[in-house]
Amino acid sequence: MEFVDLKTQYRRLKPAIDSRIQSVLDHGQYILGPEVREFELRLAARIGSKHCIGCASGTDALLLALMALGIGPGDEVITSPFTFFATAEMIALLGAVPVFADIDPATYNIDPKKIEATITPRTRAIMPICLYGQPADMNAINAIAARHGLPVIEDAAQSFGALYFGRHSGNLSTIGCTSFFPSKPLGCYGDGGACFTNDDTLAAAMIELRNHGQENRYHHTRIGINGRLDTLQAAVLLAKLDAFNNELLARSEAADRYSALLKGVVHTPQIAPNRTSAWAQYTIEVEDRTVSLHQQPVFASQSAFASASFPHAERAAERVLSLPMHPYLAPADIERVAEAVKSAMHHAAAR
Ligand SMILES: Cc1ncc(COP(=O)(O)O)c(C=O)c1O
Repeated sequence: MEFVDLKTQYRRLKPAIDSRIQSVLDHGQYILGPEVREFELRLAARIGSKHCIGCASGTDALLLALMALGIGPGDEVITSPFTFFATAEMIALLGAVPVFADIDPATYNIDPKKIEATITPRTRAIMPICLYGQPADMNAINAIAARHGLPVIEDAAQSFGALYFGRHSGNLSTIGCTSFFPSKPLGCYGDGGACFTNDDTLAAAMIELRNHGQENRYHHTRIGINGRLDTLQAAVLLAKLDAFNNELLARSEAADRYSALLKGVVHTPQIAPNRTSAWAQYTIEVEDRTVSLHQQPVFASQSAFASASFPHAERAAERVLSLPMHPYLAPADIERVAEAVKSAMHHAAAR
């Protein structure tokens, strides 16, 4: 059984995907071709955001957001110690310091109550992550940010498609960033990502930054990156977008089925009130897993983190385990996985 079954998805969507790819091969505009703009407009309309800026990966989306906000050496950005490495990595790449605040163990997302104590005169932004597909508590985070005059970057790499009080993840703060890595809920056939904002100035900055800081062709007004979304990836995404609502539904049904089978056997995911999850991952808790970000060698060597303790993130990192999750999981597959989990728990208890 595949952890994320991209082959079945391709078989189902083949005519649409093939025809979208073929039109790019026919027109030949591989860099910033018409599909990129079409995709950006569709995505912005979908989540009600004024601007969508397609880019080369979720990692670049975070980098562009931080660069557009002018984050640089000596600045501090508050984020979660329990996320994919890129979140803290992009902060550090710009010479800024990731400052961690512990998570809420119920949702694995940054705990708003832990944020205020980490704010210093050097804090320049708050960067929550919507882990496994469930939005962080963005209203509480935005309220803290507003009190301190700080922008908020939502790392929505895993949560595109999720709702928070009826609003779309990616459009819940100053800038939202998402990823189209192949295994993400909306994935392309390579790397891809996007930034969202309702702020015209930040949008203009990110459009320039993703294309070598060019305001117009060969007129460079800032130092940027080569961070454009490929036309071919935009074409794949346009085809997949038509199936996305059905796929979200199928993920949510798969999650419900897992939870019904595993309730009382292991700790199953909890979705907070007024939120939906995009179910990028279905994650249970067992004993003994990996290490959280502040314990990674590169961050542990920074004195600020050596002594820091984030008990909820540490406990979660030791325990979380993701099960196969994709829209084409058959009920029988889910039952097989649940049986395997049950029998592993049974053996662990007997040891
Ligand atoms: C929370 C989070 N942030 C950032 C990224 C980076 O996205 P990408 O792999 O597209 O660069 C990912 C996914 O891989 C992620 O899960």
